[in-house]
Amino acid sequence: MMGRQIAQVFAQHGYEVEATDEDQQALKTGIDEIANGPYGIHASVSRGKLTPDQASKALANIKTSPKLDDACRNANLVIEAAFEDLQLKQNLFQKIESVAPATAIIASNTSTLSLDKISQKISVRDRTVGMHFFNPAQVTKLVEIIRGTTTSPEMVEKASQIVREIGKTPILAQDEPGFIANRLGLTLYMEASKLLEDRLASLQDIDTCMKLGYNHPMGPFELADFVGLDTRLRNIESLYKATSDSKWIPPKLLREMVQQGYLGDPTRKTTSKGGYYEYLQVKR
Ligand SMILES: NC(=O)c1ccc[n+]([C@@H]2O[C@H](COP(=O)([O-])OP(=O)(O)OC[C@H]3O[C@@H](n4cnc5c(N)ncnc54)[C@H](O)[C@@H]3O)[C@@H](O)[C@H]2O)c1
Repeated sequence: MMGRQIAQVFAQHGYEVEATDEDQQALKTGIDEIANGPYGIHASVSRGKLTPDQASKALANIKTSPKLDDACRNANLVIEAAFEDLQLKQNLFQKIESVAPATAIIASNTSTLSLDKISQKISVRDRTVGMHFFNPAQVTKLVEIIRGTTTSPEMVEKASQIVREIGKTPILAQDEPGFIANRLGLTLYMEASKLLEDRLASLQDIDTCMKLGYNHPMGPFELADFVGLDTRLRNIESLYKATSDSKWIPPKLLREMVQQGYLGDPTRKTTSKGGYYEYLQVKR
């Protein structure tokens, strides 16, 4: 989900992008969504955000490559956006270090994992940085820049500059569980889950509360469905692992839904049976 969104943002701002994924089907559906998705390039033309000429240039800027080595070989910046799993990201960082140019910035889009831990096995740790984009990256204006203990000030500045170049605003977060955004956003989601599981409020009323009362564009459950429930579960599990704080014990209902294949909004995740609204049979 995030890899394709980030690729599109860079391509629309004139960067040449090489996208790679171990799942070849994900590369195909990714390119299709970049072109034809609800926030895709053709939709941007219809909304008057891109001219047809800019659209074809943006599409031409994106190539896919089934092999990580090929995708990274000439990169100035590598942004890793694989599953939220520490070991997997550590291994990917090692591979990226071994194939990317010696000057490349190595960034992770992790939502919750420690950048220091992700970078632990590599030697160029001063060049690693967190670049946490928000979903949908094509329209959200924020990127959290995460500074690990070994990230050089120069890297922080370079990453922040790149974020400005692609029309977004960087904020600087320390390498603490949840950084700034998820510490705040997931706290809201955990409280919403308690209200729902304790039957103190309905799904719709909780979502309506945050939309109408606080002007959030989506309620906490609509947002969870949008983000993907499997990703949401991994994020909360990783916060629990990092902090051992019982406030981050994943909600039972969330775990149950993911186990049963309810991975979020099925129009965004084709493999999903649905999200909260489908699982609880409530009309969206
Ligand atoms: N979903 C969101 O709203 C959101 C927002 C911000 C950040 N993030 C973060 O972005 C990252 C990705 O989340 P997502 O929702 O896009 O997940 P996703 O499940 O949609 O995509 C993850 C992709 O990683 C690929 N992958 C897994 N292991 C790989 C490997 N070894 N080599 C190459 N590709 C591999 C998978 O095939 C899959 O296509 C996570 O770290 C997540 O926390 C997600």
